[in-house]
Amino acid sequence: MNAAVTEGIRIVPLEEKHIESYHRCLDAVARERKYIAFVEAPPLEKTREYVLANMAIGALHFVAVDGVDVVGWCDVTPLKWEGFTHCGRLGMGVSKEYRKRGIGRKLIEVVTRKAKEAGFERVELGVFVSNTPAITLYETLGFVVEGVLKKARKLDGAYDDVLLMAKFLGTLRVE
Ligand SMILES: CC(C)(COP(=O)(O)OP(=O)(O)OC[C@H]1O[C@@H](n2cnc3c(N)ncnc32)[C@H](O)[C@@H]1OP(=O)(O)O)[C@@H](O)C(=O)NCCC(=O)NCCS
Repeated sequence: MNAAVTEGIRIVPLEEKHIESYHRCLDAVARERKYIAFVEAPPLEKTREYVLANMAIGALHFVAVDGVDVVGWCDVTPLKWEGFTHCGRLGMGVSKEYRKRGIGRKLIEVVTRKAKEAGFERVELGVFVSNTPAITLYETLGFVVEGVLKKARKLDGAYDDVLLMAKFLGTLRVE
């Protein structure tokens, strides 16, 4: 594919060779204990199995790479149940020291475009209400709030609500 470039950072489909570095990136973001549901990444081998199994069922996994280092990711995983497979669940993150350089926006733009090409019609996600950067990014890309899970997380003595957001990508063909 054509690698998109943001200040020397390439946005490419995740391959098996990226998994260790992706795991380190995921773990570092998780250990910030703020932005994603994990507080640490699952073990490397579990992560490898999960990613490869997801890709086998049509998930899109893209990574931002700086040299050989994964510095961000964005994935869309199809919902599995009959009647819901036009929907994908989005997750993403960028390493702390690479944020605010346009990488997150580029990642999600690439992945939502690929998701539409792959036949996903709706992309949905959950985001903590405290996560202003992510909410702002999603809103600027046309995601809308569909609901709120009140006090859904209680971590380090503080509650946080989860906003449910989604974007309807439209259909590429009439069934
Ligand atoms: C959310 C996240 C992925 C954004 O990635 P990023 O590379 O920093 O974002 P970008 O530099 O591409 O910025 C894209 C837009 O996001 C918004 N944004 C980014 N950082 C922001 C901040 N600190 N405050 C407010 N808005 C912000 C802005 O709308 C920005 O657009 P602009 O630069 O035109 O103003 C990144 O902050 C991150 O990884 N956070 C931790 C993990 C996480 O929150 N994952 C999402 C879980 S739902």
